[in-house]
Amino acid sequence: MTPVMERDRGRPPRRVRWERWCVVGYVGFVGLGVMGRPMALNLARAGTPLVVWNRTPARSAPLREAGAEVAASPAEVFDRASTVLLMLYDGAAVDAVLGRGTPEFAARVAGRTVVHMGTTSPEYSAGLRDDVAAAGGTYVEAPVSGSRVPAEQGRLVGMVAGDEDAVAAVRALLAPVCGETFACGPAPGALLMKLSVNLFLITQVTGLTEAFHFAELHGLDRSLLLDVLDAGPMASAVSRMKAPKLLARDFSVQAGAVDVLKNNRLIADAARQAGLASPLLDACHALFEETVALGHGGEDMVAVLHAIEARTRDVSSRDEDARGEIIRDENARDARTRDVRDGAGTAGA
Ligand SMILES: NC(=O)c1ccc[n+]([C@@H]2O[C@H](COP(=O)([O-])OP(=O)(O)OC[C@H]3O[C@@H](n4cnc5c(N)ncnc54)[C@H](OP(=O)(O)O)[C@@H]3O)[C@@H](O)[C@H]2O)c1
Repeated sequence: MTPVMERDRGRPPRRVRWERWCVVGYVGFVGLGVMGRPMALNLARAGTPLVVWNRTPARSAPLREAGAEVAASPAEVFDRASTVLLMLYDGAAVDAVLGRGTPEFAARVAGRTVVHMGTTSPEYSAGLRDDVAAAGGTYVEAPVSGSRVPAEQGRLVGMVAGDEDAVAAVRALLAPVCGETFACGPAPGALLMKLSVNLFLITQVTGLTEAFHFAELHGLDRSLLLDVLDAGPMASAVSRMKAPKLLARDFSVQAGAVDVLKNNRLIADAARQAGLASPLLDACHALFEETVALGHGGEDMVAVLHAIEARTRDVSSRDEDARGEIIRDENARDARTRDVRDGAGTAGA
């Protein structure tokens, strides 16, 4: 058998794969946003022969510097590459790049492997899987877990679903991008896995945020809380990343609240469609709606603190109103008692 990946420069040993699993020739990469750019850079730096395209052309510049070729259009990427990775925002972006719904679609995907790496609904992905197969292409889902920093470090966790051989080839291809990849059966198994992982992430970070709020309003030393959490069994890479941000009220973005809300909606929709209850997710969903409505959508997901603080203000003002009402009731009752007593006194005089 022949070792693969035509270029030999910079190929780490674990990248050697055999013909049946290989991706030969150019690899296409479309979507050089927050995640796509570092992912594509890691592929280029590892020696993957890459042809890239991004809607906003200026974002392709670092890839050109890293040795990738920059195509003038998505059609050129599909002309030159047998496997095309798509790291796009949503289904509408994927459809636009593939020319889905136009005669261009079949021309682009026939004989190609299309790898959908963004986060969309599993339902959307299943529809795309069928359309790609009907047009003579191969479809692989490969959503990732992790944000910008793990993307820069090549330490994302990849979940890969589709035809077994194509999944093996894509897992090998993604070695410079992902610390680990997992085969998740046929599509949309990888997106369902990704939504399950995000359900845990969202509820975990929201819980951590509420814990900081609870401690602060009880007058506790929040840096002590951070130390206690760090020493305990719930410490994780996520808590170690988010707790210092909560302590410093640092809302600079790692994973944006608006993207978390998008994920929240995808999970809630998938749960409703399957007839599942998702009570914790639903509570977080409402809080992230409020976070975005309060104008914090562009901040990190720990900005959900603003929504929790607003709820506390509501509770306090409702309590104050209730206390006010009780005091008014008591005053009125005292006045009536006085009137009766005074009336009785007068009558008796
Ligand atoms: N950020 C994270 O932490 C994270 C983690 C895991 C998964 N994800 C998921 O990964 C995907 C990408 O995330 P991201 O953070 O990289 O998003 P992003 O920074 O907003 O990048 C989105 C990419 O999609 C392109 N795009 C959007 N609409 C398009 C259209 N109509 N036609 C062509 N291209 C279009 C953008 O092009 P322009 O440059 O021209 O705007 C950009 O390249 C999303 O599905 C997200 O949910 C994100």
